[in-house]
Amino acid sequence: MSLLELNSITKSFGAIHALQGVDLEVSAGEAVGLMGDNGAGKSTLMKIIAGNFPPTEGAIRIEGNEVTFSQPLDAREAGIEIVYQDLALCDNLTAAANVFLGREAKKRIGPFKMLDYKTMYQKSGELFAELKSETRPRDLVRQMSGGQRQAVAIARTRLSDPKLVLMDEPTAAISVRQVAEVLALIKRLKETGHAVILVSHRMPDVFEVCDRVAVLRRGTKVADKRIDETSPEEVTGLITGAIAAA
Ligand SMILES: Nc1ncnc2c1ncn2[C@@H]1O[C@H](COP(=O)(O)OP(=O)(O)OP(=O)(O)O)[C@@H](O)[C@H]1O
Ligand SMILES: [Mg+2]
Repeated sequence: MSLLELNSITKSFGAIHALQGVDLEVSAGEAVGLMGDNGAGKSTLMKIIAGNFPPTEGAIRIEGNEVTFSQPLDAREAGIEIVYQDLALCDNLTAAANVFLGREAKKRIGPFKMLDYKTMYQKSGELFAELKSETRPRDLVRQMSGGQRQAVAIARTRLSDPKLVLMDEPTAAISVRQVAEVLALIKRLKETGHAVILVSHRMPDVFEVCDRVAVLRRGTKVADKRIDETSPEEVTGLITGAIAAA
């Protein structure tokens, strides 16, 4: 049984048909690359899976059970974490506060419940170390480089033990070394039985870590192939429309 199964997902924003009848399955331990030109509907699909907004039509199943997410928290509780394309970090907070945003560690002192900063700093430090990131828990996100911000957003997904991690362009704006770290992290997630959907414009990244690649063109899925049964040339043709479907 697939971990995630999307059935005929359609999404319209007024007159804009962002997605039309998209099917997609992802299994545990599998990474699927989601590719397509600007405006093809990739982020819209990720946001539907992450509970940001419902599909106009279509069904989402997690481990065979149909789910309806009315808010991102519902998706998180179903085991889905997302790194948004814009990262969605709070600039005025520390790295640790961003990692724990919305699920802050608390401790009880007598009748009072207080934020447990020590635990939050320590745990985020561990997560950054695991990501081989030099990000420090107490640093303000406002002062961080693109790669450090990416590490904060990814560390946030590691706080729970999600079944599925959605990554929307995690390697678009970071250094070569940090790209390698993000790809290594995706491989580790797979090895530990997690599923990943990687939205990316970077062909080498998708061919390095993904088992399958799905291509969206103007809201329609035009291909869904095993990586070892396609090539960067074919995928490029599918993205641009030079190849109609495969
Ligand atoms: N909240 C929204 N309201 C109206 N239209 C939207 C909204 N979100 C996305 N769209 C439209 O839906 C289409 C798909 O957008 P989406 O962001 O999913 O593309 P994408 O494949 O992620 O592109 P990119 O590679 O540029 O990130 C576009 O035409 C976009 O303008
Ligand atoms: Mg996008």
